[in-house]
Amino acid sequence: MKCFHYFKEKKFRIREERSAPELKETRKSDDYSGGDDRVIKSSCSATSPRGIPELFEEKAHNLRVFSFSELRQATNDFNRLLKIGEGGFGSVYKGSIKPADGKGEPTVVAIKKLNRDGLQGHKQWVAEVQFLGVLEHPNLVKLIGYCAVDGERGIQRLLVYEFMPNRSLEDHLFNRAFPTLPWKTRLQIILGAAEGLAYLHEGLEVQVIYRDFKSSNVLLDENFKPRLSDFGLAREGPLAGHTHVSTAVVGTYGYAAPDYIETGHLTAKSDVWSFGVVLYEILTGRRSLEKNRPKTEQKLLDWVKQYPADSKKFGLIIDPRLENEYSINEARKIARLADVCLSKSAKERPKMSQVVERLKQIRQVTEEEDSCDKNLEDISEPEPVETTEKNTEPSESWKRRMAHLEKLGEHVDGASRRRLIIMQRAKVL
Ligand SMILES: Nc1ncnc2c1ncn2[C@@H]1O[C@H](COP(=O)(O)OP(=O)(O)OP(=O)(O)O)[C@@H](O)[C@H]1O
Ligand SMILES: [Mg+2]
Repeated sequence: MKCFHYFKEKKFRIREERSAPELKETRKSDDYSGGDDRVIKSSCSATSPRGIPELFEEKAHNLRVFSFSELRQATNDFNRLLKIGEGGFGSVYKGSIKPADGKGEPTVVAIKKLNRDGLQGHKQWVAEVQFLGVLEHPNLVKLIGYCAVDGERGIQRLLVYEFMPNRSLEDHLFNRAFPTLPWKTRLQIILGAAEGLAYLHEGLEVQVIYRDFKSSNVLLDENFKPRLSDFGLAREGPLAGHTHVSTAVVGTYGYAAPDYIETGHLTAKSDVWSFGVVLYEILTGRRSLEKNRPKTEQKLLDWVKQYPADSKKFGLIIDPRLENEYSINEARKIARLADVCLSKSAKERPKMSQVVERLKQIRQVTEEEDSCDKNLEDISEPEPVETTEKNTEPSESWKRRMAHLEKLGEHVDGASRRRLIIMQRAKVL
């Protein structure tokens, strides 16, 4: 019941969907989560010689198949105290499993147990097993194995993942029980998440569209490295010669691209839109939809429009929990990046590899600026007190300082070098 309720509340699904595929079955219509046809218009796109099911057949031996009793034991009979989360699919428990060969230390895992109400859940389970059985990247959650039993007491579908001790980005951004997520960690998380998406879109022989990018699906490991989770809604990108996949519209309110909602035409650029939404969540510390705020502030994207990245009032939207422990310049750059990701026209949105590049540039400039600031702090010689306000002649110590800066400038390039030059001009002219 929770699942249907949840879909009503948070997720949406427009068209009804067809029967569930079997795990080992090769799909006829490349259909993972919707009963949708790949009826497609226009031209050009990546070729997909082998689809996910074929790749899965090759790699499936990497996944462990668990018995239900093993997982019951691992979670102390799905003890309430071990429950760590609940989503549209079902409940998530922390558990401990023995190694497959019975030797060595047990491994801590997260076990997701499907609620028993649905075809939709079963289809998502199949998709998750097939995608995560194939995909491999440091920024994607690792599926260890699964359990599927169709017994007298109904069907049981479970998934066993590597445990992520720092829960999700959603928890750290919006739950006051967690300490404030520092600015640099936010940037590190968003870069890793972007790399995960870029891998899905551009790093495989088949393109994968994630379709459910949101802060609750960005899990965090012990070092706050992000890992994308939940591939239940993922699907293959368009076949060669096509620009999009026509699908049933599924996703989460507040994150899905408007063009996808309107037309059902799915492209990798739908994920780029969702990424833009999460960029604004990271900047503001606000959820994409918040019903308990004044009307004009309920929809994050509408609210932030009133505070453009290049305006003076931009700083007003930054997460107050950061308490000025962030760089406003960097924040503006992130907002500008978010704005292009949120372009109305999908074609104008950048590719995820471009987003990754931009995020790296933003980080690099800041690191250079930081090291420049540090170098400035290292210049310890005190400035003589100026006796006249209108003294236009550079003092001896200023000249020495400039010579020192110039020297430093020889060893740095890019923005920090430019910054040094600007400083020199400002003083000398
Ligand atoms: N591998 C994992 N390690 C640790 N915690 C996890 C793991 N997977 C999920 N969780 C926890 O369980 C919570 C629920 O996850 P789940 O994916 O079921 O739902 P959701 O992402 O919150 O919502 P939705 O169903 O809409 O995707 C997560 O927010 C996270 O806190
Ligand atoms: Mg999730």
